[in-house]
Amino acid sequence: MNQKELNLILDDVKSFPSMPAAALKLLSLLKDENAATGQVEQVLRYEPGLTANILKMTNSAYFGLPTKIGSIRQAILLLGWKKLIQIVLTSCVSAIIDKPVQGYDLPAGDLWRHSVAVSVATETLVKLLKLSVPDEVFTAALLHDIGKMVLGRYVEADILQMDQESLNDVSFEQVERSMFGIDHAEIGAKILKRWSFPPTMISIVRWHHEPDAAPKPNTAIDVVHAADVLCLMAGIGTGREGLQYQPSEAASTRLGLTQKHIEIVASQMLQWASELAASVQSGS
Ligand SMILES: [Fe+2]
Ligand SMILES: [Fe+2]
Repeated sequence: MNQKELNLILDDVKSFPSMPAAALKLLSLLKDENAATGQVEQVLRYEPGLTANILKMTNSAYFGLPTKIGSIRQAILLLGWKKLIQIVLTSCVSAIIDKPVQGYDLPAGDLWRHSVAVSVATETLVKLLKLSVPDEVFTAALLHDIGKMVLGRYVEADILQMDQESLNDVSFEQVERSMFGIDHAEIGAKILKRWSFPPTMISIVRWHHEPDAAPKPNTAIDVVHAADVLCLMAGIGTGREGLQYQPSEAASTRLGLTQKHIEIVASQMLQWASELAASVQSGS
């Protein structure tokens, strides 16, 4: 590990693009049980770009709504304001991560598709297993690999060394730690911290590869981990990391995840994720 390189990485975390102010406001509304439709509309009133994206997503095949939606109010009426906030946050994240991540062998759009798939799989598992998790877990799922946006550049530079190391029987994040002194999960957590995101989201991102290393067992971390494993098994955004993923059996046991659940999610996820990802991809 090279201290100079680690300092450069940490500098990149500091200069990483920020989330739009509207996203942060909406995240805080998500926690407020008394938040009203009007408050959501108020935040979006001066965000025409975001509003256009939200309507595009709401009208995508994924939601299968019977009529075309033309306004935020209509979207809230049909989907509920919590779902709408999730859509807004998805749209904000897409603007940041819809780029190629070379070190991880992820062409443009792949990290985005993987992130959407993990978020959709998380939502499906939460319903199937009747889990009690905070609403922000779906946005955390969307952001779980954001650290790759920073680390990718350095992985790319050290790719030859990494290929040799990857022959060893260690997980990808262990390789990252031995090379850089930090892994993409920790970098992601630092980015979310800089954005002043809630602690639950930060810890989901921080422990998504190692749910058993979290300070205490946490259903939200376990379910995002399981969703990530499912997506990599299905080959969605596998890239370099998917080859060396170490799933936690303890997390599956804590969740009560069975082979039957896995089959249900895997059979539907591919279609849902591509419908949703396509609706907000830049240029579409
Ligand atoms: Fe990851
Ligand atoms: Fe992932």
